[in-house]
Amino acid sequence: EKGGYDYFMLKEIAEQPKAVADTLLGRIDANGRLTLDEVRIPDAVLRETDKIVIVACGTAFHAGMIAKYAIEHWTRIPCEVELASEFRYRDPILNPRTLVVAISQSGETMDTLMALRHAREQGSKVLAICNTNGSTIPRESDAVLYTHAGPEVAVASTKAFLTQLVACYLVALYLGQVRGTKWGDEITSVIQELADISRQVDQVLETMEPVRELARSLKDKNTVLFLGRHVGYPVALEGALKLKELAYMHAEGFAAGELKHGPIALIEDDLPVVVVVPSPRGRSVLHDKIVSNIQEIRARGARTIVIAEEGDEAVVPYADHLIRIPATPVLLQPLVSTVPLQVFACELATARGNEVDQPRNLAKSVTVE
Ligand code: M6R
Repeated sequence: EKGGYDYFMLKEIAEQPKAVADTLLGRIDANGRLTLDEVRIPDAVLRETDKIVIVACGTAFHAGMIAKYAIEHWTRIPCEVELASEFRYRDPILNPRTLVVAISQSGETMDTLMALRHAREQGSKVLAICNTNGSTIPRESDAVLYTHAGPEVAVASTKAFLTQLVACYLVALYLGQVRGTKWGDEITSVIQELADISRQVDQVLETMEPVRELARSLKDKNTVLFLGRHVGYPVALEGALKLKELAYMHAEGFAAGELKHGPIALIEDDLPVVVVVPSPRGRSVLHDKIVSNIQEIRARGARTIVIAEEGDEAVVPYADHLIRIPATPVLLQPLVSTVPLQVFACELATARGNEVDQPRNLAKSVTVE
């Protein structure tokens, strides 16, 4: 059932192009418009929505963080993202015009379930993004957008994450479409580009051997840091989470702009630092800023592992290791930049002799608060 792979995680990483394509299937019509009829929340309600709150845990929370950038950009609706476990305990401000989005692979995560119950008690509508048909979270929500990743067995989430991102982009683009924003043309072109992402993920998977080799060479390190900006920041957090849970290493993700506010003190000779570089197109100011961050940490001895778009030459002089990803629209980059980080963590775990599919102390779904 592992389909020839040593671990479910490897199989699930390899299944990502299909998972992404399946999650888009039937949701884009012949005119390139989104048809999310299955989301039973009427368009009139979506037009009235004045705030979106995303609740989720772990990897799903990282998908939610990325969704915030997309939702606010394409819809201009304010969006908050909160760890489900913190949400109800701070008496959040909710009303019938708040749309709560609960993201969960399993659909059984107790923290997320309790958060959505709280939201519904306050009269908010809840949309679940979930991978498990008929599980508790979609059953208790007003509507559900299923991800079609297929069963995810490995404790570390991989393909479910990519499909959660796709679902989040669909929600953001759909809201933009329903409400009509100044980004109409961009929305149309991004929908087209989404359709191409599965092929790009496949392309990334084809080029992972140097990443595996690099991971093996770092097996005796104690710490790896991850830096990113904009949508690359949650990707950095996700890369660090994968490494913690699989390799049992100290791993931390930071927003690169925060470096000089503290974390740069951690940099010492030969410390591996993975940097997720934003596209040099689009929000190029950020690109230039992160290139100077790479220079700064390298000058202090860091071993820089740089994930950058094909054609981005500015990073070359400062990258000890360069991992190329295909060019995508700015907001979609996490769909390709996450993949090398999954492979990296999986290979490091293997090199350290860890149990990849069943890391110590963890369960696939966390059904207690
Ligand atoms: O089933 P869920 O998506 O609700 O699970 C949420 C987290 O427990 C989960 O993403 C966890 O962080 C993974 N082990 C990360 O790889």
